[in-house]
Amino acid sequence: MSEKTLTSSGFYVSQEAFVPTNNPVPTPKAPPPDIVRCAYMEIVVSNLAASRKFYVEVLDLVVTAEDEHTLYLRSTEEFIHHNLVLREGPMPAVAAFAYRVRSPAELDRAVDFYTELGCRVERRAEGFTRGIGDSVRVEDPLGFPCEFFYDVEHVERLAWRYDLHSAGALVRLDHFNQVTPDVPRATRFMQDLGFRVTEDIQDEHNTVYAAWMRRKSTVHDTAMTGGDGPRMHHIAFATHEKHNILFICDKLGALRLSDCIERGPGRHGVSNAFYLYVRDPDGHRIEIYTQDYYSGDPDNPVITWDVHDNQRRDWWGHPVVPSWYNEASPVLDLDGNPQPVAPRTEHSEMAATIGADGFSYTRKQDDDASTSEKGEYKLGNQL
Ligand SMILES: [Fe+2]
Repeated sequence: MSEKTLTSSGFYVSQEAFVPTNNPVPTPKAPPPDIVRCAYMEIVVSNLAASRKFYVEVLDLVVTAEDEHTLYLRSTEEFIHHNLVLREGPMPAVAAFAYRVRSPAELDRAVDFYTELGCRVERRAEGFTRGIGDSVRVEDPLGFPCEFFYDVEHVERLAWRYDLHSAGALVRLDHFNQVTPDVPRATRFMQDLGFRVTEDIQDEHNTVYAAWMRRKSTVHDTAMTGGDGPRMHHIAFATHEKHNILFICDKLGALRLSDCIERGPGRHGVSNAFYLYVRDPDGHRIEIYTQDYYSGDPDNPVITWDVHDNQRRDWWGHPVVPSWYNEASPVLDLDGNPQPVAPRTEHSEMAATIGADGFSYTRKQDDDASTSEKGEYKLGNQL
């Protein structure tokens, strides 16, 4: 990153540069595919009926198609076949992080780009899932199963069908979040793939704990979170407004499903979005997210948060629950076997932000701070 300037908001801004890493994935000579946006995720669930109840009856996603073992879901504003595929299988996991590319020709680029990197690449003219045609799946250099496609069946955009919407309607797929041991290596690779960095979390030693990056003009299409990986941290759907998220909380309470709520509702520091994290019946994490900012200018400033800033993950200063840092979904290789998980070797964000006394709220000058100054009254400190 270029020189950082402290803003009146308490974080730093700089202009994006290639992220330095001592363990880079080689930059291919072949150009990367032109990615439009994150488009869908395919996840394996252990009980399709239980998952259908959660995603369709509780979260109100729209069913595009279904058969005995598979459910294809979309958000209300979506016009492509699906944003989420639930496939029943023996082990809950993620089978694909799928991105839409700008034209059919970009699939050739994807093949060349990943082949040069020595990655496993598989192309299917008939597609890997219903509703999608010619597609390329790869095991990327970070160990994640990724798909690229252009050809897709269009379906009705239900944005105007308010008669079908609940007060918690999920209107768009917003982003993925991936867990990886080496965030600078992963971020630099994603820059080579054409992603732009919008925000990150660092400490005074330049250790990078997480980074957010985009193709579309929002804060991100995916984020890299430091931890044992490759694993999937969450998939995020957007609502129009924050009151829609509060309705989802009220509904979960009314259904006596409050245990599904893992973290939030709250306001993020990073991204400035309003958020809620819920866990599905298999523990896959879903974020409900709304109202981040436009990031599409070429000189959009990169925001850097101090890992010791207690407002980086929650603008109101609420601590992050340990499960949010520690738990994530396995990812599969192209044969459907779980990818081995490598441990994070650098300092973990949880270790950096939870004091030795176990309180998940710290300040640099914490040593002789009073109980209330340490934030022990904050929600979550009893954990
Ligand atoms: Fe997120």
